[in-house]
Amino acid sequence: MDRIRIVGGNALNGIIPISGAKNAALPLMIASLLTSDTLTLENVPHLADVEGLIRILGNHGVDIAVNGRREHQDGSYSRTVHFTCRTVADTTAPYELVSKMRASFWVIGPLLAREGQARVSLPGGCAIGTRPVDLFIEGLTALGAEMEIDGGYINAKAPKGGLIGARYTFPKVSVGATHVMLMAASLARGTTVIGNAAREPEVVDLANCLNAMGAKISGAGTSTITIEGVTSLSGARHRVLPDRIETGTYAMAVAMTGGDVTLSGTDISLLDTAIEAIRRAGAEVSAVEGGIRVIGHGDAIRPVDIVTEPFPGFPTDLQAQFMGLMTRANGISHVTETIFENRFMHVQELARLGAKITLSGQTARIEGVTRLRGAPVMATDLRASVSLVIGGLAAEGETMVSRVYHLDRGFERLEEKLTRCGAIVERISD
Ligand code: EPZ
Repeated sequence: MDRIRIVGGNALNGIIPISGAKNAALPLMIASLLTSDTLTLENVPHLADVEGLIRILGNHGVDIAVNGRREHQDGSYSRTVHFTCRTVADTTAPYELVSKMRASFWVIGPLLAREGQARVSLPGGCAIGTRPVDLFIEGLTALGAEMEIDGGYINAKAPKGGLIGARYTFPKVSVGATHVMLMAASLARGTTVIGNAAREPEVVDLANCLNAMGAKISGAGTSTITIEGVTSLSGARHRVLPDRIETGTYAMAVAMTGGDVTLSGTDISLLDTAIEAIRRAGAEVSAVEGGIRVIGHGDAIRPVDIVTEPFPGFPTDLQAQFMGLMTRANGISHVTETIFENRFMHVQELARLGAKITLSGQTARIEGVTRLRGAPVMATDLRASVSLVIGGLAAEGETMVSRVYHLDRGFERLEEKLTRCGAIVERISD
C-alpha cells in the first residue's frame, strides 16, 4: 500500500492548478444515464472515485471514451470524457459496487426516471457517520414511485406512464438527495418544486448541465428549485466546475506553511465562507485573473472559530483541513461539525504531530502550539487524510502518511502539485 513521506518546514511558492470538482463530476457522470445521446464532460479529474464510477456506469450500459490527457502550460491537465448510454443494460446497482462509493447510489434517480424501475443496494455504513437514505426515499415517493426495502436493496418502481411532478420539501438539506430529485424530476410528467434544496455549487453545475441536455430547471443555487418535466433529454457538452474543496485545501496549506501561491483555474466565489475564515486566520487571499492568490505568513496564524453548515456556510469537507491550520494558531479556537456525527477521526492523528485538541460532543477545542513534529500517521477518510498532509508540511522533520488510497479518491496528483511549489513530498510504493 502506498505511503506519502513529507519533510516539513518549507514554504509553498508557485502555481497550483486546481482540478475539476470530484463532487460535481460524479453526479454529472450519473446524469449520462438519462439520455441515449452522448454526454461529453470536460475537465474531469483523474481520481479513484471517478474511475470507480466509470466501472459502475459501464455495468449499467454506458460506453465511455476518455480523451488522452494533455498537459497545459501551467502544469494542469484536463480530461474530456464521453458517456453514451444507448440502452440501459441493467437497472440493478449491486452491493459490491455501491458499498465502495456512496455516490453510486444516486443512479437510482436516472434509472427510475428513464426505465421506470431500479434496484439499488443500500450504501451501508461509512467512516464519517451513518448517512441514511430516508430523504431519497421520501423524495422519490413524492414523485409517485413505490419504494420498498428488501434484502439490503431498495426496489423502486415508477407509476405506469412514469414519475409525476410534485411539491416536496426536504426536512433536512441533502446534496445527494437534491441531485437525485433534479435528475428524476427532469423526466417526470408535470412540474416539481423542491423546497429546502441544497444550494451547493455542484447542484448548480448539475442543473446547468441538465438544462444543456434539454431539462427545464430554474432556481438552482437557491433553496427552491422548480423542474418542469420533459419527455426526453439529449446529449450535451459541459465543463465540470473547479474543485472548491481542493482550492480551500491548498489555500489552507499556504496559510499554514507561509509562502505565495496562485491557485489557477478556480473561482473565489465558490468558497466565500472558507476564504473569509482563512483571511481571519491571517493569510492574504485575493482574486486574480484565472484564479486566487494566497499569501501565508506561517507562524502568525490567528485562532478562528468555525461551524460547518450546508452551503453557503463553512463546508464540512474543509473542516479537517481548517483544524489542521488551527493547530498552529496563536491561541484557542473551536471547530464545530454539524453535518456528520463522526467526522473527527483526524483529531487523534493530528495529536500524533503534537496538536492539542480536546473533543466535547460535536465541538473540538484546539489550543494552538508553536511547533508540530513529524510522525507516522494514518489516513482515515479523504478529507481527514489531507489535513494530515497539511500538518506534515508545517511540522518539523518527517511525517509518513499511510493508507493513502483515501487521498487518491479526491486529490489529483497531490504530491506533484505540492512538490512543484517547493514542498518535500514523495509517494512511496511498497
Ligand atoms: C455530499 O455527500 C458530498 N459527497 C460529501 O463529500 C459532503 O461532505 C456532503 O455532500 C455534505 O456537503 C459528494 O458530493 C459525492 P448529504 P452526501 O446528503 O450527498 C444526512 C467528500 O469528502 N442525510 O448532503 O452524501 C446525512 O447523513 C464527501 O468529498 C440523511 O439524514 O451528503 C448528513 O448528515 C464526504 N438522510 C446530511 O444529511 C438522507 O437520506 C448531509 O448529507 C441523506 C442524507
